[in-house]
Amino acid sequence: PASAERDGDGMLSLGGVAADDLRAAYGTPLYVVDEDDVRAHARRTLAAFRSAAEAHGVQARVYYAGKAFLCTEVVRWVTDEGLAVDVCTGGELAVALAGGAAPERLGFHGNNKSVAELERAVEVGIGSIVLDSAIELERLAAIAERRGVVQPVLVRVNSGVHAETHDFLATAHEDQKFGFTLDEARVVVARIREVPSLRFVGLHCHIGSQIFGVAGFAESAARVVDLHAELLAGGEIPVLNLGGGFGIAYTSVDDPTPIEQLAVGIVDAVARECEVRGIPLPNLAFEPGRSIVGQAGVTLYEVGTTKPVHLGEAGDRLYVSVDGGMSDNARPALYGAEFSARIASRTSDADPALVRVVGRHCESGDIVVDHEYLPADVAPGDLLAVPATGAYCFSLASNYNHVPRPPVVAVRGGKARVIVRGETIDDLLARDPGAATEGEM
Ligand code: LLP
Repeated sequence: PASAERDGDGMLSLGGVAADDLRAAYGTPLYVVDEDDVRAHARRTLAAFRSAAEAHGVQARVYYAGKAFLCTEVVRWVTDEGLAVDVCTGGELAVALAGGAAPERLGFHGNNKSVAELERAVEVGIGSIVLDSAIELERLAAIAERRGVVQPVLVRVNSGVHAETHDFLATAHEDQKFGFTLDEARVVVARIREVPSLRFVGLHCHIGSQIFGVAGFAESAARVVDLHAELLAGGEIPVLNLGGGFGIAYTSVDDPTPIEQLAVGIVDAVARECEVRGIPLPNLAFEPGRSIVGQAGVTLYEVGTTKPVHLGEAGDRLYVSVDGGMSDNARPALYGAEFSARIASRTSDADPALVRVVGRHCESGDIVVDHEYLPADVAPGDLLAVPATGAYCFSLASNYNHVPRPPVVAVRGGKARVIVRGETIDDLLARDPGAATEGEM
């Protein structure tokens, strides 16, 4: 986060709180999230899309994609900054509501929302539901009808543009579970328009995540606007939702496009596509998750052991084991995702050594940072900071090997506070009826 700095002794501080003080107060591993940084990215993103849209005389809404990192406090921050919230399960819906999000400013995604989840969403008066299958359409229609409401819905289309991490490739047919093909979407929208309990408010597409350039979004928009234009014959369509996926820097080689530039590039591309077809530009919606919270988070770990491994000709690699790992950050194991690491508790004049930061789990793929250079004197007791862990780390955390999940601490203005408490071994035992013996709980 922007607030990260070193004091005269080389101690890292986040949001004005020294890393060592965080360790002393909350232990490690610890997720630290910088409130001002989240707020700043939320504000900046909203301003960027609003001004890009206003330049064409339309409005833009930004939904924060809660899957990236959700707790009630984060809901408060982003809604406070003017964002709507996108949820994709009943659990996320419950957290968003508990955090005070207005139901009419919530969107609900997912390829297999349960009947109970749909019921609940309609019951609380959710703003929109993004339909992902014909079966879901009929289920939702019945629920809304029974409750006597007209539920606004979007239709998720698969534009055939699949964005890869730094690149994108266009494929005619997407072999994946989300959305409808453009052809299927025609039929689905026609059906929605026949159903009195549903109101079709727009198309939705999301091409992927951790995308750096405008090109994939522009290509996707062109295809979706084609369908949007055709569907206008059947009635007005107030919104077009282009999803999220804006990339962030994980390591020094990552160079994401600033959000202002992305916003103008994407909105201008959609406007051009509409102009070519002689149709009005609809209001636009976006759903960034990672780019709001990713860079605001830092995970602190304590080094437990170090061990050199001889790579022959290639020299040595120092394995640095920390007290967390794939249970608090599954991304390297799941996606081969890259992170970086720094010693947070001191600076060092030692030569850099090639290190692999690994976790404490019983699995060789339990890697936190695959390759990094740290001072060769990195040693047990050192505090390591792994930046850019604000998105999809807490939310993907597990209890693998019965490791309790770490707390989340928010820092701001020199103060820290717990926004999600850490789990304890007792929390884990409490779920196991056979472990509960009197006096031990
Ligand atoms: N909207 C929809 C419909 C989505 O499926 C997603 C992400 C988003 C918005 C937000 O995308 P973002 O702006 O955060 O890229 N666990 C993976 C990322 C999975 C993203 C899933 N969908 C990771 O750790 O990289």
